[in-house]
Amino acid sequence: MTDPLARLQELQAGDLPVHGGRTLAYVYDGGDAEVDRIGREAVAAYAGSNALDPTAFPSLLTMENELVGFACSLLDAPDGAVGTVTSGGTESVLLAVQGARDARPDVREPSMVIPSTAHAAFHKAAHYFGVRAVVVPVGPDFRADAAAMAAAIDDTTVLVVASAPSYAHGVVDPVTEVAAAAAEAGIRCHVDACIGGWVLPYAARLGRDVPAWTFAVEGVTSISVDTHKYAYAPKGTSLLLHRSSALRHPQLFASADWPGYTMLNQTMQSTRSGGPIAGTWAVVSAIGDAGYLRLAGEVFEAVDRIVELVSATPALRLVVPPDSTLVALTTDGSCDPFTLTDELVSRGWYVQPQLAYADQPASVHLSVSAATLRHLPDFATALADSVAAARAAGPVSVDEGVVSFIEALDPAALGDDDFDGLLAASGLVGAGADGSLDLPTRMAPVNAMLDVASPPMREALLVAFLDRLSRPVRPATEVPA
Ligand SMILES: Cc1ncc(COP(=O)(O)O)c(C=O)c1O
Repeated sequence: MTDPLARLQELQAGDLPVHGGRTLAYVYDGGDAEVDRIGREAVAAYAGSNALDPTAFPSLLTMENELVGFACSLLDAPDGAVGTVTSGGTESVLLAVQGARDARPDVREPSMVIPSTAHAAFHKAAHYFGVRAVVVPVGPDFRADAAAMAAAIDDTTVLVVASAPSYAHGVVDPVTEVAAAAAEAGIRCHVDACIGGWVLPYAARLGRDVPAWTFAVEGVTSISVDTHKYAYAPKGTSLLLHRSSALRHPQLFASADWPGYTMLNQTMQSTRSGGPIAGTWAVVSAIGDAGYLRLAGEVFEAVDRIVELVSATPALRLVVPPDSTLVALTTDGSCDPFTLTDELVSRGWYVQPQLAYADQPASVHLSVSAATLRHLPDFATALADSVAAARAAGPVSVDEGVVSFIEALDPAALGDDDFDGLLAASGLVGAGADGSLDLPTRMAPVNAMLDVASPPMREALLVAFLDRLSRPVRPATEVPA
């Protein structure tokens, strides 16, 4: 038998690095190897524990309550506020929407008013829970347009949403105005601080200019904050806080309508691994308040220096000056943003392409970590070299035939044959006889192709792509019957 751990190491070598501060999406790195070790050991120690039953695993209940208590202090939560540890930002958002819907059984066709920059998790919640998303375009500064959102509230609205900050642009919505409009209409207001919840409070303490967005703002009824982002905890936890237990109540679920144990849950999961909870608790305890203040100083110093670098590079510009730790930059006509992304990736800096949307151009997203700071001289060189290489490579054009092929497809009815036809026409992603896909190493031509497609077509193509990726790999030798 091959050593499974050796095999894991071999497999993991093909993944993005989780540590090192150069992966500027998906992962968040505090840069302290000892804290990471503590987190990993806590995850391992609790991997088999089950938070399903707090009476059976009371240590997990203690950890959850302490984590929520820490967050209550950060987020100016009043006495009586409560919270839940969920599996991630999307689950926190889903539960905020589900709770808002179920608190209003009187509304037959519920809706929520969200800014166009709200995270896609709200669209997922709309899809899952039948809550129509009323999407209000943001203003020219990429922040929610509070007056337009207030005007969009009607008898069906059960929730109003603001972000602190938005993922795509890293700016904080005018929460005071949005929450006031919600409160005036007697409607819940959720602040999605999945990104900013653990870092913006420290930014304010460092004297940075952060607009009000916490429970200190009247009318804010719930806040989501991801510990697996800027609390630098292992993956698998977020917190959803409510201003009162009455507001959380519709989120709690019990079913005694079967012959087994009474199912009793705060989250969408029932069995919940203790690993992520213990890992998060251990990391938060190890870093502590003073540690997070220092890490916030580091991440914001890194952000400021990246902003300076971008501003000093003629081919680049910021989409908008960031309020938080996320930077969106775009390019002038001399440099293709998707090629720039590939060039940075090839130099060991993972940045994330963002497709053009509405009147917003394609851009490059950077989620900056505290650990990024110490590598900035290298980033500066990589950025300059990548810009030069992208300029030399010239624009990425999408073949006219491929554009027409995509335009002729119906996203609502995209089938396997259409997808295969597109793969063949574009020649971008090779497919084996068994339907398996060979991933391209350079993504710019793929992104350029997606960029010309409408959002529904992008969704349909990527769903088809995911379906193809997700296929069973059967064991090489038959398992004896
Ligand atoms: C603002 C915001 N909300 C929600 C989410 C979803 O979080 P997750 O990926 O943990 O489900 C994200 C993820 O980046 C986010 O930035």
